[in-house]
Amino acid sequence: MLSEPLRFKSILVLHGPNLNLLGQREPGIYGAVTLEQINRLLTEEGQKLQALVSTVQSNHEGVLVDSIHAARKEHQGILINAGAYTHTSVAIRDAIAAVSIPTVEVHLSNIYQREAFRHHSYIAAVAIGQISGFGAESYRLGLQALVHYLQVAK
Ligand code: DQA
Repeated sequence: MLSEPLRFKSILVLHGPNLNLLGQREPGIYGAVTLEQINRLLTEEGQKLQALVSTVQSNHEGVLVDSIHAARKEHQGILINAGAYTHTSVAIRDAIAAVSIPTVEVHLSNIYQREAFRHHSYIAAVAIGQISGFGAESYRLGLQALVHYLQVAK
């Protein structure tokens, strides 16, 4: 019989505003990789890690909040790049705190090397950890860290 740590985990990946434009959007900062490629990378990495990955992208704060609430019934972990809402959204922070689902925050760029307004994250305090600055690899590293936490550390 499989013990609890080896069962498949279901992970919700949330992409916030403007990330639908990845590949075209400020490629000097965010790279040439598209959101579709990142989602494919995460699905493939999930298969290696025994994790099922579902992805949602929205430019609307309330849709992200609703997705976090809905995750309670379906997902064991959340991987989130909240985009600009990272630096503004008490509502997304409160939603993560409300559902108590282990959450990892990721960013393509190193937010601490950029403008001062990007140095504060409302999400960091309710996340189990944050990965920032490795381009699309931030997502892969974040997924690995989250699944490891769910399978072993938790
Ligand atoms: C971002 C960093 C944010 O400051 C910015 O608003 C984004 C993308 C990143 O992935 O580097 O939209 O979250």
